[in-house]
Amino acid sequence: MKLLTIETTCDETAAAVITDEREVLSSVVASQDALHKRFGGVVPEIASRAHVERILPVIDEALRKANTRLAELDGVAVANTPGLAGSLLVGLTAAKAICLATGLPLLAVNHLQAHIYACRLASGRDVFPCIGLVVSGGHSNLYRCQAPTDFTALGGTIDDAAGEAFDKVASLLGLPYPGGPSIERTARSGNAQAHRFPRPLLDDPSRLQFSFSGLKTAVRYLVAGTGKTPERSPASNLTPQELADVAASFQDAAIDCLIGKTELALKRTGYRTLCVGGGVAANSRFRKRLEESAAANAYELHVPPLSLCTDNAVMGAIAIERLKAGLFEDLSLDIKPGPERAAAQ
Ligand code: KG4
Ligand code: ZN
Repeated sequence: MKLLTIETTCDETAAAVITDEREVLSSVVASQDALHKRFGGVVPEIASRAHVERILPVIDEALRKANTRLAELDGVAVANTPGLAGSLLVGLTAAKAICLATGLPLLAVNHLQAHIYACRLASGRDVFPCIGLVVSGGHSNLYRCQAPTDFTALGGTIDDAAGEAFDKVASLLGLPYPGGPSIERTARSGNAQAHRFPRPLLDDPSRLQFSFSGLKTAVRYLVAGTGKTPERSPASNLTPQELADVAASFQDAAIDCLIGKTELALKRTGYRTLCVGGGVAANSRFRKRLEESAAANAYELHVPPLSLCTDNAVMGAIAIERLKAGLFEDLSLDIKPGPERAAAQ
């Protein structure tokens, strides 16, 4: 069996063709980084317009590379939650149009669950049950993943997402977009002990939640003063070494929060496997700290290769599990921009 998977939740237009054996026949990702760079972040209206222009060529290319015609497919899967409303609509409309024209079944993909499923694809073997941690530009979520079709939200961020904090701090430090890789590069020559930034909520074992907004503000106060209007142009008077020290200290504070709450989720549930996904999982310092945590706490760790950490359509292979379970959608399927919330803790 073959599935066409479509991903347009944020600023990548992506499509892939995947078999029910999880073999990737093709994967096409059209990045919009160049369009959003000068704004220092994703502009939703620009993102949806770019998706409209690119979605059909990207799908055509995925089918062509997989040497597959529409008639040879067994289903169309599309990420319909969570994400930017306009972006989600483009992918969903394309998927529905194909299903309407061909009679193929429609399958829904939860983008965050797909990020975790990337670990299943990368490892080549079963990773369930596991704790899932998704750390991306829009989300920082912990899940109890009983099975590929059975996820329970455990907790998330109460303000900024982890990647968003990286992006905002990078912009504060005058580093280029996207901020995550810029912070990582700059931090390499920095001293992570130079500044003791806050680790919000880390000391509170009763909450499986993240908060990054106070950490971001602490960096702002350090580099730009405490007034409402920055007293100094942010970071303009920092030497390269000072800049590197701030980046490294911020990065370690953010990583401490992510790892602390993830260890708490593992402890609370008794699960012994962790699957990590999302763009921030591309951070090599974070990956190293996760490995140390896994060794110290004796759990099995899965982090996908970089190409499967950032947004792509291959991870939409999670829909194969829904296909096998007969979990099809009808054409009334709608977008759901917000993520599901964890039950009260
Ligand atoms: O998962 P993703 O590609 O898109 C979303 O669904 O948001 O994640 C993008 C986020 C951005 O905030 C970006 O700055 C961050 O992932 N990111 C990183 C790194 N590479 C990407 N954050 C920290 N270190 C990195 N190396
Ligand atoms: Zn993502």
